[in-house]
Amino acid sequence: MNKTPLKNSPRNCDFDWMLLVFLEDARTITLMRGTQKMSDVYPINDYGPLMPGLVMAGVAIVHVFLAQFAVGGGILLCYFQWLAMTGREPHARQFVEGYFKLLVLISFVVGALTGVGIWFTAIQVSPATIGAMVDNFHWLWATEWTFFCLEIVSGYCFYRYHSRLNDRTAMTLLAIYAIASWLSLFVINGILSWQLTPGRWLETRNIFDGFFNPSFWPSLLFRTVVSLTLSALAACVVTNLMWSLDREARRALINRAAHLLIPMVLMPFLGIWFLAVMPADSRSWVLGGSPAMMLFFSISIGSSLAIGTYAIIGMVLQRLYINGATAMLMLMLAFGATAGGEFVREGSRKPYSIRHLLYSNSIKPEEVDLLREVGSLRNDRYGLRQDAQYPNDQVRIGSKVFRRQCSVCHTVHGTNAVAELTGSWDENQMRINFAKLQHTKPFMPPFAGTADEVESLVQFVNWSSDHRPARWPTSENPETLAQIADWLKEAGTAPGDFAQNRKRTSSRQHE
Ligand code: HEC
Repeated sequence: MNKTPLKNSPRNCDFDWMLLVFLEDARTITLMRGTQKMSDVYPINDYGPLMPGLVMAGVAIVHVFLAQFAVGGGILLCYFQWLAMTGREPHARQFVEGYFKLLVLISFVVGALTGVGIWFTAIQVSPATIGAMVDNFHWLWATEWTFFCLEIVSGYCFYRYHSRLNDRTAMTLLAIYAIASWLSLFVINGILSWQLTPGRWLETRNIFDGFFNPSFWPSLLFRTVVSLTLSALAACVVTNLMWSLDREARRALINRAAHLLIPMVLMPFLGIWFLAVMPADSRSWVLGGSPAMMLFFSISIGSSLAIGTYAIIGMVLQRLYINGATAMLMLMLAFGATAGGEFVREGSRKPYSIRHLLYSNSIKPEEVDLLREVGSLRNDRYGLRQDAQYPNDQVRIGSKVFRRQCSVCHTVHGTNAVAELTGSWDENQMRINFAKLQHTKPFMPPFAGTADEVESLVQFVNWSSDHRPARWPTSENPETLAQIADWLKEAGTAPGDFAQNRKRTSSRQHE
């Protein structure tokens, strides 16, 4: 703006000043709009060589295993209480007592601890994900907690008073316990399956569309069958610890518990149903697109098949006795199957933590355009650990970009280490592959920052690969930055497309 003609008139000077204020305000307003669209940044915790996603998965897997055991345990106890009351099984009453102690110890103590552990880990790994789950489904969480509370209260009453209760009251307490714990699975299953298949909710934002989403029923039924399986295998372990009984009595109890293994025959169908409602790209990761995921999937299927075959042929049809060691081994196999299955379920959501709503790195898909302009660190107010060790500001920025955009799925040197993955690349390969992140591997989100940030990230990764020397040159070649900007433009801001990427690679091979 040319201000010279206005210079001598005080009035015009006022006007000029007002105009400036106005312009400044307008700029602030646009920026504020920008900040409103940008979600809050919470730094992801750094667990050293463990990537945060893996820490989350570890806690979650242990919890899911124990929680499902608790659900199945309730149903199994009702069955044995009924056997005791109808006189069908002379030692059922003794079994109920022994089993309940184990159930209380494991599910109340370790289950509750790991349950809290999930929240504690989730807020360090992806507060945005857990935040969106609470925002959208707070009534459902509240309902779930009510059922959990009911489960604990009825369980505790049974534990404390069952020796003084008559059969009917004991049965009522156990039934309340079983129904409440299954209902808490029912509710939590709706929220968890929504993350992978939000379905019609994306358009309607109706809570029930989100809850009864496409994968709700297959995963609820699958988890129920798993719960029954775990409870029956645990029953075999417990029975083997009932030393006061002779072998025949124990065999009778084990044969009864084996009835809860029969629903395992449904597993293949429920599994196929689940795969069928999964988004096509997630399914393709599992069925070969990602070797790690396919490996875990195969481990899960293999262990389930091994347990299922042994259970149906050996325990149900041939009524074999199963000793404590074998039962323990089968439980461990079941843990492996659960771990594999949960890993695949969590992993196949990539690049999203909530499909179409939030990328795993807590950036929203509709934010990417803006972050490409203003950068991903504008509202990142957090310092770096050991800030003084960084050689210059560019590397510092790179480290922050890594923390914000990559660190949920990668470490620098540990699991899924970026330093390792880029080991054979030169700087330009890194630049192009980071700028086109969603096409490098479509289970990564698009890069959500400026060309400067790509370059800083490249410098940070190289500096880390070089064992963090005290001195490091700053890279500020304008041509390089212009080239990166072009690559970012070519990559676009839409998520990667597995089918398209495959086409692209095969046409490249034909060239
Ligand atoms: C949603 C999780 C996720 C995010 C976020 C993510 N990645 Fe990845 N990335 C992966 C996975 C999974 C692989 C595959 C690893 C493998 O093939 O073993 C991968 C692979 C890579 C590779 C190797 C690619 C190849 O072709 O071999 C590089 C390099 C990489 N990521 C860099 C990054 C950078 C840099 C960022 C941040 C800007 C990032 N990733 C963000 C999950 C992610």
